[in-house]
Amino acid sequence: MSQARAQATPIHVRPNESGFGAEITGLDISKPLPPETLAEVKQAWARHAVIWFPGQPLTHDQLEAFTLQIGPFGHDPFIAPMEDHPHILELRREPDEKARNFGAGWHSDWSFQEEPPAATLLHSKVIPPVGGDTLYADCTRAYDALSDEMKKVLSGLTAVHSAALPYGPNGVFAQETEKRTMKILVSKDAEKTWPHPLVRTHPVTGRKALFVSPVYTVGIEGMTHAESAAILGFLYTHMTQDQFVYRHKWRENMLTMWDNRCTLHFADGGYDGHLRVMHRTTVAGDVPH
Ligand code: SIN
Repeated sequence: MSQARAQATPIHVRPNESGFGAEITGLDISKPLPPETLAEVKQAWARHAVIWFPGQPLTHDQLEAFTLQIGPFGHDPFIAPMEDHPHILELRREPDEKARNFGAGWHSDWSFQEEPPAATLLHSKVIPPVGGDTLYADCTRAYDALSDEMKKVLSGLTAVHSAALPYGPNGVFAQETEKRTMKILVSKDAEKTWPHPLVRTHPVTGRKALFVSPVYTVGIEGMTHAESAAILGFLYTHMTQDQFVYRHKWRENMLTMWDNRCTLHFADGGYDGHLRVMHRTTVAGDVPH
């Protein structure tokens, strides 16, 4: 790829009032970023967990190249990637689709993997005139807000993650009857489970965050189903309170990048009758500690 390296100019980071989520302008991400600009972007991402770059019309190659500046690609199972672009998933919903919009449940991407992706990047191509927002929950502030006693209860607990609920042979997608444009690859593999600490420490910021979700967490090691359900149910309600949630409004040609190590997200619907097209990549992560 022969792209001219962009000049280093100061970027503008405009955080939300809560500090969770920030808009970044003053740079062109279609070209390789100068090292100091890339470092500023990574710093803003570590600080704000969800960052977005408006007004960035990217080709598939440019989306891949920007992703690789953040880190190596993650592994994206259970969804057929774009032809000729094995690292890009097209999240596409046609105006006549009735199947529930993809991603409509709180989750952290692929948390059932041994090394879940650190980042997900989502680039908007076609945005509906209504609906289609993405909600993000700040799992760091949610952890901080717990009482010391609850933190003690949670410390040392191991949560069990699996892709069975959405992608397994008896899962939600397998039972779907409505037409879906995205090609979901239902598989027995989805029934595998993987343990992760229920509270993980962010490798860059050193801050603790809750690392469980209703889509991928199936229990807590050593606990009965009823015990796990009580603790997890409490945590899901706690983490997704308005005070921890940021509602992201899309515009076309916006690139949004979130940190799966300390956030959950939820794709809101409300755009039946309209086309929505997004392109998604992931960046590899490490074993949660
Ligand atoms: C997802 O990656 O879960 C989907 C997010 C979205 O389409 O808003």
